[in-house]
Amino acid sequence: MKHLLQAAAAAAIAFGGLAGAVHAKEMKMGLITPPPHIWTKEAQAFGDALKAATGGKHSVVVYPSRQLGNEAEVLQQMQSGAVDMAFMTVAEISNRVPEFSALFTPFLVKDNAQAVQLLKTSPTAKGLLDLLPAKVGVVGIGYGMAGVRQIVSATPIASIDDLKGRKIRVTPFPATRDFNAILGTAPTPMPLPDVYDALANGQVDAIEMDLELTVKLKYWELAKSVVISNQMIFPMVGIVSARTWRDLSADERTTVSTLMQQHLDVILDKTEEIERTFLPILKEKSSLQVLEVDQAFFGTALAEWEKIWLPQAPAIPALRAEAAKL
Ligand code: BEZ
Repeated sequence: MKHLLQAAAAAAIAFGGLAGAVHAKEMKMGLITPPPHIWTKEAQAFGDALKAATGGKHSVVVYPSRQLGNEAEVLQQMQSGAVDMAFMTVAEISNRVPEFSALFTPFLVKDNAQAVQLLKTSPTAKGLLDLLPAKVGVVGIGYGMAGVRQIVSATPIASIDDLKGRKIRVTPFPATRDFNAILGTAPTPMPLPDVYDALANGQVDAIEMDLELTVKLKYWELAKSVVISNQMIFPMVGIVSARTWRDLSADERTTVSTLMQQHLDVILDKTEEIERTFLPILKEKSSLQVLEVDQAFFGTALAEWEKIWLPQAPAIPALRAEAAKL
């Protein structure tokens, strides 16, 4: 809670004082995920809880599936106060605040369960949220996530050599682009809605993806191999426009942050459960080879990645130390 108070103070300074006006408000919340996705469902549940807790004074209208634009556009609208809230990938945040790339340190955790623990408990991850008011004009409430990244390939993969020169779809952010470039693949940044067609028509040979969407969006049907590498966590952050935050009273800020945090925690726990449940489902598919690998599969890539990213993301050693204790 300490970082929230600090963030609130920073936001107040950035936007001209502690107004704390207590107007009723219908808040707009933007997401890129489709309606059945756990992020969207919990955004809706958070909105319902906020409405109940404020006796209907504050409500939330959730706009899924990029209805308010892509994440960069949503962030821009949050700076002007036109959009109030979002569940946003840390991938997009790291495009604006490179320090967040520390969370993409390859092999930071061994699986989704450790990713959940790290995102719930890490003081370093919480500390990164304090950068948001001054650098992006939003207040960071806490973390959610999608599943840890794996590789889903249309061609069989037995070793890292089978990926060299191959076009791999990555979410557009520099930490994963660099990791893939180091591996000798051809990283191809692409937003989520374009992925299925790109894999189906051969525009890309493989994709970085979590298991939930690999099953639910049927990417596995286009694949010969799934490499279970747990190579990077894929955090999301619950954010509130600093302008919206300024217009809430102290009590209202506590209500918003407490309820949003609760629903972010549900996302973390449910994501871990879904990813754990979906691995056996993929292993049962007779057309699919599921290859479980560890860091050794990727050779010296981590060391090379850290050489590039340590200067830009100085939280890497602290996060590594915290993750090692999990
Ligand atoms: C992706 O870009 O792969 C992604 C984005 C949001 C949720 C899950 C995956």
